Amino acid sequence: MDLSSLNSQQREAVEHMDGPCCVVAGAGSGKTRVLTYRVANLVERGIPAQNILAVTFTRKAAGEMQERLQPLIGDAALEDLNVGTFHSICYRILRDEWRASSQPAFEPAQEGWQKRTIKKILDDINLDMDISHMLGFISWQKNNLITPEMPLDLLGAPAFMEERLRQVYRLYEQAKQQERKLDFDDMLLWCYQMLKEDARIRSKYQDQFKYILVDEFQD
Ligand SMILES: Nc1ncnc2c1ncn2[C@@H]1O[C@H](COP(=O)(O)OP(=O)(O)OP(=O)(O)O)[C@@H](O)[C@H]1O
Ligand SMILES: [Mg+2]
Repeated sequence: MDLSSLNSQQREAVEHMDGPCCVVAGAGSGKTRVLTYRVANLVERGIPAQNILAVTFTRKAAGEMQERLQPLIGDAALEDLNVGTFHSICYRILRDEWRASSQPAFEPAQEGWQKRTIKKILDDINLDMDISHMLGFISWQKNNLITPEMPLDLLGAPAFMEERLRQVYRLYEQAKQQERKLDFDDMLLWCYQMLKEDARIRSKYQDQFKYILVDEFQD
């Protein structure tokens, strides 16, 4: 592996093998370069590409990571490597597990579907609220692992609103379930719940993902 295009600190991070390693460096200083070279170095040292998980936050960054990895490791290793956004990796795990247990898959709910569904719910229960705000409210609950049965984070809304907001949240979840859809927050939440609750599945992915590399960690 030719590391001559890296400075000494980059090289130290790239050559790190086992255990945690955190790279703190400014914008444009070569963090993604370190990450891609580290993946290549692991592959060259004999770590099977399927044991490496490279994850980032946006589709654009994940695409860029793939583009930069291709010349370093080639198409065959890239094929085996697990690279993507948190959402795509989680959705892939969910789909693989649904397939393995012969369950029909849930399809991603598009934004248009989400808005139509919330509008219908608000109309049905006669609640005058901004649709995007309501979706943001639900998203916030999920990202804080708050399900409709739990006390909600009201985000400044008055306490007397809680039961109405809960009703919208619950009806939205029911509509999604009925149409076998999942939203972007569900991809993370359901995957988290599955890994937390099912020790067999959890240990399967613990064994598989021996090296986990996260880019854009500050996001
Ligand atoms: N040691 C180096 N020698 C020459 N060029 C380098 C070196 N390290 C990084 N670069 C180049 O600098 C540019 C920025 O690198 P990179 O994208 O890896 O930085 P980054 O820290 O991930 O940036 P961002 O903060 O935008 O995510 C790229 O064009 C990269 O090829
Ligand atoms: Mg970067």
